[in-house]
Amino acid sequence: MRAGTAEDLPRLMELWRQEVAAGRQDMVPNEHNLHRMLARFDWEAKSRVVEEGGRIVGSVLVMSRPSPDGTLTNVYAAGEPPVFRRLVEWGVGLSRAAGASVAQVFVGKGLGDGLESAGLKLVRPWWRMDRAMDDLPAIAPVPGYDLADATTVPPGSWEDMFNRTFADHWRFAPRGEGEIVGDRAPGLCLMAITRARRSPAGITIGEVESYDGDPRPQPVGLISSVGTLPEHRRRGLATWLVAEVLARLRDAGARSASLYVDGMSPVMAYDVYRKMGFQVAREAEVWEATWP
Ligand SMILES: CC(C)(COP(=O)(O)OP(=O)(O)OC[C@H]1O[C@@H](n2cnc3c(N)ncnc32)[C@H](O)[C@@H]1OP(=O)(O)O)[C@@H](O)C(=O)NCCC(=O)NCCS
Repeated sequence: MRAGTAEDLPRLMELWRQEVAAGRQDMVPNEHNLHRMLARFDWEAKSRVVEEGGRIVGSVLVMSRPSPDGTLTNVYAAGEPPVFRRLVEWGVGLSRAAGASVAQVFVGKGLGDGLESAGLKLVRPWWRMDRAMDDLPAIAPVPGYDLADATTVPPGSWEDMFNRTFADHWRFAPRGEGEIVGDRAPGLCLMAITRARRSPAGITIGEVESYDGDPRPQPVGLISSVGTLPEHRRRGLATWLVAEVLARLRDAGARSASLYVDGMSPVMAYDVYRKMGFQVAREAEVWEATWP
């Protein structure tokens, strides 16, 4: 076992592709996003790889972010079960030593065998819901609201909206503007605003992504950050924004659509999506270790 380096990335991508083929992970992030995510990553301190006969057979990358629950880490491990468990243990150990309050590991459903030995507990199902791009749901504007996008909405508003709409989401961790809209197409970053006071009420972000070796019709329209401020909920805003972003994603070339949702969402976010034709396509599990 040794620390990983940025030069390992092509071989890591190969390993991660095998993880998807074996059903252990849901998808390989595309290279562009990966480079963005890993631009300032401390490989020496926060990663390990396992090599066998010149091949990388296991990897772990630990990412951390501050949250109201304390520092939250994500332990991204890959490899056959024994190597996987060893690397998860390393990642959880690092998280604890670095003072994290929560370490999370995402695995395919039923594939978390033995993770208890790393001090982890199964806490939630995590779903990917998919939809074909035909028969898109009707776009139903909500009276009293207008729709805007990042071609006109001033920068800075997305971060504020994301952090306010997701404040009551499980394991919420604040995000910065760049992470929410970043270099995404401005016409796919949607915001509902009140007609009377021009104040933001809900957001939804879309992006068109291609995933290697993935059975979904490519490219995929990925929908994220679907959030409505509490005082504007249950009026149809999320339904409107998701229907609108679906149509825009189709026009931008997406041939299927996907989103991720907490399988125990207290506001039953999956019902919003189910009513719009999305179905659970991949089930993952969230395992956690927590320290007071
Ligand atoms: C999930 C969320 C985006 C829904 O936004 P919304 O604007 O209230 O959604 P809509 O008004 O379009 O609701 C559509 C359907 O969702 C379901 N729904 C929404 N809120 C619900 C709740 N609190 N309880 C049960 N069902 C709910 C209902 O089926 C509703 O249909 P109905 O109006 O016929 O009852 C909003 O609750 C939210 O921002 N939550 C916090 C962030 C979050 O969890 N986002 C989802 C991440 S995947």
